[in-house]
Amino acid sequence: MYTDLKNIKKQFKKSIDNYDKYAVVQKLMAEKLTKALPEKYYSDVLELGCGSGLLTKQFVKEISFQRYCANDIVDKSKMYLDKILKNYVFLGGSALRLSVNGKFNLIISNALFQWFEDLEKSIEYFSSYLEKGGTIAFTTFAPDNYKEIKSLTGLGLGYKTVDEIRKILEKNFEILTLENFEYTMRFKNPLEVLVHMKNTGVNALTSKPLSVKEVKEFCDKYKEQYPDLPLTYSPIIAVARLKD
Ligand SMILES: C[S@@+](CC[C@H](N)C(=O)[O-])C[C@H]1O[C@@H](n2cnc3c(N)ncnc32)[C@H](O)[C@@H]1O
Repeated sequence: MYTDLKNIKKQFKKSIDNYDKYAVVQKLMAEKLTKALPEKYYSDVLELGCGSGLLTKQFVKEISFQRYCANDIVDKSKMYLDKILKNYVFLGGSALRLSVNGKFNLIISNALFQWFEDLEKSIEYFSSYLEKGGTIAFTTFAPDNYKEIKSLTGLGLGYKTVDEIRKILEKNFEILTLENFEYTMRFKNPLEVLVHMKNTGVNALTSKPLSVKEVKEFCDKYKEQYPDLPLTYSPIIAVARLKD
């Protein structure tokens, strides 16, 4: 159900301390996702893949709640969440193997679902933790995300299109928001692109570090094919309500 979980954990553990500084687009996604929520209060909230708490910070500013459970596969994430929330439960381990009692009326997650190999099964699994009428709110990425990296290295996740996500959600959910936007970052040199990817955990695309020769080849090709050094992000924002 998941692409090389061990490697993903390792790469995100390495990037967590620098993540907030580099995660410009993920911050924007967290803001948009919070704004798209239909309510300002949820009694029971479950956040998946909370990381350093980028979404959590945004969420607590705008939404009130009674019970908050925050999950991440990287245990160090708890250290960050402890600074944001007073009364909450940290659920270490994979979001796809939750061990928690009770149901939630909001499951929320920023920039995690793209890592799930089988999005439909994963959403089905999360639905079992949702009360009837409960809301799932998540962001992920569309196929054009990181298109420069894909074209140069062949590496990339199996991103779903908006239509594919719509079809998955429609089965059991009423869709409230489903939108896609593009955001292009620009860099001074291709090495900066690699540093940016490393610090946002995207190194997890491959478990093999690049050799010096491979880094040089990557930089040369990047400059040649993309002289103004863009890196395209293509986020999707989805909010949906579980049908009764
Ligand atoms: C791109 S970061 C997003 C962090 C945060 N949600 C935000 O708003 O920026 C993805 C996070 O998901 C976590 N993660 C990856 N796979 C996971 C899994 N199967 N279960 C739980 N967390 C996971 C990573 O450790 C990382 O903290």
